[in-house]
Amino acid sequence: MGFPEKPREWEEIKREIHQLREKDIPFSRILGTMCAKPEENLKKIYMDFLETNLGDPRKFPGTKEIEGKLTDMVLDLFSAPKSAGCRVVSGGTEGNMLAVAIARNMKGGEELLIPEHAHFSFQKIAKIAGIKIRVIETSKNHVINPRDVLKNITDKTFGVVAVAGTTELGLIDPIPDISDICFDNNLFLHVDAAFGGFIIPFLKDLGHDLPDFDFKLKGVSTIVADGHKMGGCAIPLGFFMVRDKEWFRYIEVETPYVSTRYQSTFLGTRSGGPVAYGYVRFNLLGREGFRETARRCMELTMYAKKKLEEKGFKIFMEPVLNVLAVVVKDVDRVIEKLYERGWGVNPIRKLSSFRMVIQPHMSKEIIDKFVEDLEYVYKEVKT
Ligand SMILES: Cc1ncc(COP(=O)(O)O)c(C=O)c1O
Repeated sequence: MGFPEKPREWEEIKREIHQLREKDIPFSRILGTMCAKPEENLKKIYMDFLETNLGDPRKFPGTKEIEGKLTDMVLDLFSAPKSAGCRVVSGGTEGNMLAVAIARNMKGGEELLIPEHAHFSFQKIAKIAGIKIRVIETSKNHVINPRDVLKNITDKTFGVVAVAGTTELGLIDPIPDISDICFDNNLFLHVDAAFGGFIIPFLKDLGHDLPDFDFKLKGVSTIVADGHKMGGCAIPLGFFMVRDKEWFRYIEVETPYVSTRYQSTFLGTRSGGPVAYGYVRFNLLGREGFRETARRCMELTMYAKKKLEEKGFKIFMEPVLNVLAVVVKDVDRVIEKLYERGWGVNPIRKLSSFRMVIQPHMSKEIIDKFVEDLEYVYKEVKT
């Protein structure tokens, strides 16, 4: 389609885009995404702040103040010391990128250690920034073994990545031990809690036996946690936290024509919409609301697991967070057939499984319908 020469009719354009939107899978039937469903009553908040630009905050001091309050709340949740700082970022990818850049510029080495299960954003970073990555194999319990971290450290290593809520299985690396290793070896430790950041603290409050992963651990240098995943916020909202805000200077650049003197994020122009949405949502829920959401997600996860097992499906491993890996033969065909029936799940090809992320907006009814369709589809695939 070429750029339109003449203005088109509003009604016609609206009809066109809504017809195209109809092709999308309804969010309630997307069972593989880590992203949250925005709440109807909060959408207006996002819209109210749409034109604010936090890349040029002098013009929007009120919105900037909201951002400051929000980042303070987030730092508090992750047990940050007084010295810490937090930047709002577009998500896990940008946060991971900033962490690697700070680590490399600060420590000056060549090589970054990442777990085999680390998110592919680290591969992007390696390609874009020319950083050498050494992959630590995942152990048989599907997290990294601290001994393997130790074995892979060389005099070229500048940092280590650990994951709190892995993309495929929702597992948590043994971060307390990895933190000790990094502290003792003067290495930078970045914790990718893009997925787990806004559920692990609340499950711990509820008594789940999960490892520490935040600034309580002395070796943790930086953390990324996504508001638009288990934070329940609208895309794009991520939080990138550093133990010492002075470290931002390792990635800071001068910004001659906007109202701040320096920027230390990758994005320049960015709307205050997600920030305002996040501030309202976090205040509306509080820790209490987040705990309830976490409890509900785990209850639904166990419900889905039971329903799937009753129908003879194997769950790859006992869930730690609200993620299920369902083992199937011919995973791509199963997923394709599920798409045809209007369901969206994500493949984990190397485990011959697909991933379900059990989000707070899901219900037992949706899970029942999905299991019924999966059973039907799977019979077709197997014959
Ligand atoms: C562990 C982890 N880190 C980083 C990311 C990337 O986050 P985003 O897509 O918000 O950039 C994801 C996305 O699923 C993830 O699971």
